[in-house]
Amino acid sequence: MPTTKAITEPTCAVLPNAAQSAGASTMTGGSRSLLSVSSLTVQDVSDILRLATLLEAEEPVARALRLARRRVALLFYESSTRTRTSFELAAKGLGADTALISSQSSSIEKGESLRDTGLTLRALGAECIILRHLSSGAPYLLASATGLPILNAGDGMHEHPSQALLDVRTMLSALKRPENTAGETLLAGITVSIVGDILHSRVARSNALLLPRLGARVILCGPPALLPELALELGPGITIERDFDRALKQSEIVMMLRIQKERLTGVHIDLDEYTTRYQLHRGRLRAHGPQAIVMHPGPMIRGLEITSDVADGPQSVIEQQVRNGVAIRMALIHRALEPVQPVAGRKSAPVRAAKRLPAKKRGGS
Ligand code: CP
Repeated sequence: MPTTKAITEPTCAVLPNAAQSAGASTMTGGSRSLLSVSSLTVQDVSDILRLATLLEAEEPVARALRLARRRVALLFYESSTRTRTSFELAAKGLGADTALISSQSSSIEKGESLRDTGLTLRALGAECIILRHLSSGAPYLLASATGLPILNAGDGMHEHPSQALLDVRTMLSALKRPENTAGETLLAGITVSIVGDILHSRVARSNALLLPRLGARVILCGPPALLPELALELGPGITIERDFDRALKQSEIVMMLRIQKERLTGVHIDLDEYTTRYQLHRGRLRAHGPQAIVMHPGPMIRGLEITSDVADGPQSVIEQQVRNGVAIRMALIHRALEPVQPVAGRKSAPVRAAKRLPAKKRGGS
């Protein structure tokens, strides 16, 4: 059986960030890792957004020379469709060789520890590990054990930083806002409601930590059983609203969350009542958010937190979120393997063009 023991499992996702006290930047490979959005400066966020756009626009053959034959391991202890596929496509798009290790078909099943699995991947030449794990804090352990850059692809109820970054890219695009303004004002004046199972959501946590730093106001909305008052301690710029219609009226963006049935042990929820109060359906959206942009990190449970007419409707940018995953994750993998050196007067220099390609073949931007 795979080891699923909590490493630094907080009681819930909205507790203050225990794992980050380990400090990603203090570890070997730290600044190239992404373990939590808290380790990113707003300048880092701007740089990642710009790098994503640059890489996305680049001619594919030129782009594939950037990390040609570099080795990236995808280590997934938990199921994933979007994150796993987009990280893999991102690495391959940059020319890297990828290896996928999942808990069901590897020596993890025989009881090999996370540390030993990481050291094994390093011995096999992995230069960067993308980790999804059931336990909050697992990426910190892996970073410390291997010294490699680690990209957190979702750890327990802690964080999902690459999801928050792709969400920011999606928001800016849907709002028709430029990504090259100062990081602190990227989302100035925008209210984002995050609705549903906040308690168990690493997506909610990463977004609630990141969006206020970019100027947004965040409303967390849900019943007390799924949204404790303690969530306010995540930081400034966050409020709690129990009434969904009131939250929706104030929001330019509404982000719906799945009820995480697999994590509901000990939480008592009447799903019929929940659906009545918190489902986003066409009538509610028309009445209280006729202009609101609708987001969902997926996977969606249609008919529970969101109806199909809304999920597939004109206000939905859910597919754009998925698409943006590839560009953002290309930027994160590139940053992990080809860190940009600071230069005077600027916190980070622009990424250099693909270096191994003759000038005439170089791609866009
Ligand atoms: N949003 C997200 O993490 O989806 P997956 O679990 O499919 O990767």
